[in-house]
Amino acid sequence: MNPPNRRQFLHSAAGAAVLTGGAFSPWLRAQEAPAKKYRTALIGSGWWGMNILRVAIEDGAVDVVALCDVDADELEVSADEVESLTGTLPAIYKDYREMLGKERIEIAIISTPDHWHALQGIACIEAGAHVFVEKPTGHTIRESRAMVKAARAHDRVVQVGMHRRIGPHHVSGMKFLKDGGAGEIGMIRAFAHSVGGPEAPTPNEPVPDNLDWDLYCGPAPMRPFNKRIHPGGFRNYLDFANGILGDWGVHWLDQILWWSDEKHPRKISSMGGRPVRGPVVLNEKEQTSDSPDHQIVTYEFDKFTAVWEHRRFGGNEAEKSKVGCYFYGTKGTFHMGWRDGWTFYPNDGKEIVHEDPKFDDEKDGHNVPPLWRDFIECIEQKRLPVADVEIGHLATNMSLLGMISQRLGRSVEWDGESETFPGDEEANKLLRRDYRAPWEYPV
Ligand SMILES: NC(=O)c1ccc[n+]([C@@H]2O[C@H](COP(=O)([O-])OP(=O)(O)OC[C@H]3O[C@@H](n4cnc5c(N)ncnc54)[C@H](O)[C@@H]3O)[C@@H](O)[C@H]2O)c1
Repeated sequence: MNPPNRRQFLHSAAGAAVLTGGAFSPWLRAQEAPAKKYRTALIGSGWWGMNILRVAIEDGAVDVVALCDVDADELEVSADEVESLTGTLPAIYKDYREMLGKERIEIAIISTPDHWHALQGIACIEAGAHVFVEKPTGHTIRESRAMVKAARAHDRVVQVGMHRRIGPHHVSGMKFLKDGGAGEIGMIRAFAHSVGGPEAPTPNEPVPDNLDWDLYCGPAPMRPFNKRIHPGGFRNYLDFANGILGDWGVHWLDQILWWSDEKHPRKISSMGGRPVRGPVVLNEKEQTSDSPDHQIVTYEFDKFTAVWEHRRFGGNEAEKSKVGCYFYGTKGTFHMGWRDGWTFYPNDGKEIVHEDPKFDDEKDGHNVPPLWRDFIECIEQKRLPVADVEIGHLATNMSLLGMISQRLGRSVEWDGESETFPGDEEANKLLRRDYRAPWEYPV
């Protein structure tokens, strides 16, 4: 027998044991057996969706009744893993609409490519489910806002997968900043850097038998299938996602909104391109990705300026940290990081203050268990979760506003109350996009 490939391994019980450290996390051990088990479905049973589902199963408040994915291979391995973890084989579906019609779903987890989040989120909410949806909350601003509206109209709890709202070092770091530990803060720089080089076009391929490519593309344009896109690579294709800014940006730009209690910037300006990865190619024979390989976005707020910066090349130790936010204050510089916790560098030469991170899962370095627990408690106590859909929407807007400015090649002025660009019809057009029939843009 051939050894399992990466995805088979990640979906196997052995992989699950490695990913979870083979032990229950400290948050979970402290809990008592939950009173109710919610009929739960996962839509998008790829890498991250299964990460969330494992957490939900360990937490104990779910009955996993259904899995939905357009990739039959993903479904099969995921369903087998659910059976090995729970003793029950869930029903499997390719089409979420059929699943919602046949199953009575109380909780839906959505971890599909970004262009599906709002559409599927709204369908699940309208079907009566509480939703744990991955960030970003939309591929365009209006569909994200439509999901917020649906959540409120149907009184459902919607938690967005922004675990950096609840991770222990984020919480303590925010307290340090909000208590004035760094003094008056006038500027923040959020960033994500990695290594990389030029990108050669990859040949397109026939759609694999196990994949429904039409249903993968859904409302997005149908482009030729390419193995760089699925699994995981959709992030780098603007039909399905919004590059690094729409991916990493949501987490780190959200830290700025959290610290400042601001809801939106008033002016946004983006520059960037693909000088290293090279020109965008898309034809019947081959294609490249099309998201910027670097981008610098400035956000003007009333009392401070924020900068987003990403590079998919030249990520190294020279700048100490590859992801995070620097908050520049009158008392010193504060770095909110990921695996490196947070660190404060005082101006006055006093000792550096540092706090290590704490993760339920060292390998993935995330804090999904407390986020999941908060979600369940909010359903039970009928209150808003820590990463409520409105919070996720505002963080998503930060990324999408940067992308709108990038597409237009100029700065834009944003009225966050009406969520429009006053007097700027060219920019307002980019608040939505045309969907491929028969999909309809949500209002
Ligand atoms: N919060 C975090 O820290 C974090 C971390 C990783 C990923 N994510 C998010 O999770 C999402 C998934 O990312 P991933 O890395 O697991 O991608 P992935 O490609 O591994 O998984 C996505 C799955 O969705 C399936 N899919 C596509 N269209 C579908 C449809 N119409 N219906 C049902 N299934 C469909 C694909 O076949 C695939 O199996 C992304 O939105 C990403 O931003 C969040």
